Amino acid sequence: MNSPTTENAAPKGLKNVVAADSSISHVDGIVGSLMYRGYHIDELAENSTFEETAYLLFQGELPSKTQLEEFSADLKKERSIPDEVIAQLKSSPAGTHPMAQLRTAVSLLGEYDPGAEEHSIEAFSKRSLMLTAKISTLVAAIKRIRDGQEPIAPDESLSHAANFMYMMNGEKPSADAEKAMDLVLILHAEHGLNASTFAARVIAATLTDIYSAITGAVGSLKGPLHGGANTAVLNTLQEVGSVENVADWVAKTRASKGKFMGFGHAVYQTQDPRAKFLKELSRRLSIETGEPKWYDMSIEMEKHVVAAIKRECNVDFYSASLQHYMGIPSELFTCIFAASRVIGWCAHVLEQIDGNKIIRPKANYIGYDQRCYVPVSKR
Ligand SMILES: CC(C)(COP(=O)(O)OP(=O)(O)OC[C@H]1O[C@@H](n2cnc3c(N)ncnc32)[C@H](O)[C@@H]1OP(=O)(O)O)[C@@H](O)C(=O)NCCC(=O)NCCS
Repeated sequence: MNSPTTENAAPKGLKNVVAADSSISHVDGIVGSLMYRGYHIDELAENSTFEETAYLLFQGELPSKTQLEEFSADLKKERSIPDEVIAQLKSSPAGTHPMAQLRTAVSLLGEYDPGAEEHSIEAFSKRSLMLTAKISTLVAAIKRIRDGQEPIAPDESLSHAANFMYMMNGEKPSADAEKAMDLVLILHAEHGLNASTFAARVIAATLTDIYSAITGAVGSLKGPLHGGANTAVLNTLQEVGSVENVADWVAKTRASKGKFMGFGHAVYQTQDPRAKFLKELSRRLSIETGEPKWYDMSIEMEKHVVAAIKRECNVDFYSASLQHYMGIPSELFTCIFAASRVIGWCAHVLEQIDGNKIIRPKANYIGYDQRCYVPVSKR
């Protein structure tokens, strides 16, 4: 066997490897800042909307009033999904993971799009808008079908965030609830070459269709080391049960070398700049809902985990208690993430195919040198 030497060993997880030039977002892991197309996430979180942020990420510039109105109207027109896709969601075997349902449904959307195989920047831009609109409708339908309810048709009088909540819950949300969803969608929309975005770019670089790239990205986001972490965080809080149990649980988990979901980050060496917004919203909703337990436990857990592993919380930690307060079941959290991150995936796919080169790194071979074949009778 050849062994990798320190000089030629592949960097584990490709950590710190630069794999693309991109002008979509800038993640600075040292100072803990995130910018979409040059605009700091703090400013967008405070002033923007989902629709405006989506336009910015796709087009590279903030829209004029007319451009924003047209883009929002185009998104609204694309919200509905084929009946056949709803029928497929209804026929999922009991116990299917909601992200697996979403993965299948995104793939199926491609089958019902007669232009799915068109390959041009224009065709992909059109489908980026379609997927951004339709994935929220799919997620809402998945939720309702899992709850034994009929999916609700989109309402064109509502913003993207309000309509998303309406399709999930059957009630038009309050202005505060709409703002909370809008913020969650803005904060999760894009984050450089994370695992699912890289997966989308690798798939798109073969010049296949955009549905294949986004289906692959959904599958990647599902994993607990990536988008699945927020569901794991709420499961942990429920398992721990009370503020009083937190310190003990952290000590035991540390002693058994367990993972603290919602902590640590492949890029940020300091606090994830998105976490503070989710933390504050979680605090506010904990008061409004009169259910402070989940926020209080999160605060206690943050204190003990940071002390134990010297790693800060990431975007998934407070998004767990927040989404719980928003009435979203924990198994759906990663689907909500996907309904936002679809923008980043599509923006990267568009960037990839513009001047495309197939992505084909090489492996550092560490196997046997050449050996002689031995017939099965002699083995
Ligand atoms: C996000 C994550 C995958 C980044 O991994 P990474 O790039 O290897 O990060 P680091 O270099 O800081 O990690 C090195 C070591 O620190 C420790 N560490 C990092 N995060 C940890 C965590 N959340 N809990 C316990 N130990 C952790 C581990 O020993 C890790 O080594 P290991 O991956 O072999 O177990 C990792 O922090 C993690 O698994 N976090 C929990 C899952 C999560 O919240 N994912 C969502 C990310 S937004």
